Amino acid sequence: MAKIAPSVLAADFARLGEEIADCDRCGVDLLHLDIMDGHFVPNISYGPSIVKTINKLTDRFLDVHLMLSEPEKYFEAFQKAGADSITFHIEVHPDPRDLAMRLREMGLKPGISLNPDAKPESVIPYLDFFDLLLVMSVFPGFGGQSFIESTLDTVRTARKYIDERGLTTEIEVDGGVGPENADRVVEAGADILVMGTAFFRHDDRMGLTKMVQEL
Ligand code: DX5
Ligand code: ZN
Repeated sequence: MAKIAPSVLAADFARLGEEIADCDRCGVDLLHLDIMDGHFVPNISYGPSIVKTINKLTDRFLDVHLMLSEPEKYFEAFQKAGADSITFHIEVHPDPRDLAMRLREMGLKPGISLNPDAKPESVIPYLDFFDLLLVMSVFPGFGGQSFIESTLDTVRTARKYIDERGLTTEIEVDGGVGPENADRVVEAGADILVMGTAFFRHDDRMGLTKMVQEL
């Protein structure tokens, strides 16, 4: 019963409408939208206007991942563009409680993310405030990188904490996830798998979607 979240970063932007329609056809659970500022990460992607375009193309849940040094400056712009959840990084806000509450007041689901080299203890005390924990399994900035195995320990630690406390926070794993490791990532405790390259380069996207949803 895992969920799949294609990362639109890996879509063919010349055919964005068709790509989003294909995600709908496959019955994906949510769309993962990667926003990069060229500062927090060494790459630039797209901004609220593309999110707004995607929102017009689909009714899917839009899971916006802000890889920004000052994410809070853009909460409103992404809310207006149609975001359903907004995730920012613990690396830029070591105490993220106020921002989580601000997102919730705005009617958004708050998410918190941590890089592969961060200790799970940096986010664990704050999980009660978040609907989503986004565990980065590559260093953010680019699609198509290799999965970092050691991040599964973070997933296991977070799963244990969430279950022990009876929290509803979902664990999402992002980077280098595909059909070859999906089962292990879910076994470690993930609820949602982000797949960029693995989804958009797959010749049977619907088969892949079903495979993940049956895990
Ligand atoms: C990395 C992004 C990821 C990435 C995933 O900075 O946060 O969401 O697009 O892409 P793949 O699945 O290709 O690793
Ligand atoms: Zn992402």
